[in-house]
Amino acid sequence: MKKDRNQKQYIFICNGKDCLKNGSRALRKELEREIKSRKLKNSYQVVETRCMDHCKEGPSVVVNNCWYGKVSTKDIDALLSKKAAR
Ligand code: FES
Repeated sequence: MKKDRNQKQYIFICNGKDCLKNGSRALRKELEREIKSRKLKNSYQVVETRCMDHCKEGPSVVVNNCWYGKVSTKDIDALLSKKAAR
């Protein structure tokens, strides 16, 4: 099987009740705005998910099969650099 090196990096953001309370919607909007402003739309896709069962640690985000908790807009640079860690 051949890996497509140009495929998009998916960033999964929890859209569950507790993460919404902790700012996941604002995080998603800011992340999408940053992706657009950095002209990275061909590199990243933001995907909302259901609860990831880490509700007390939300907002929950998964990038590259790694889970991150208590993610805020201050972490966007780090999230967008996860592609390089592949
Ligand atoms: S609500 Fe986000 S992990 Fe449960």
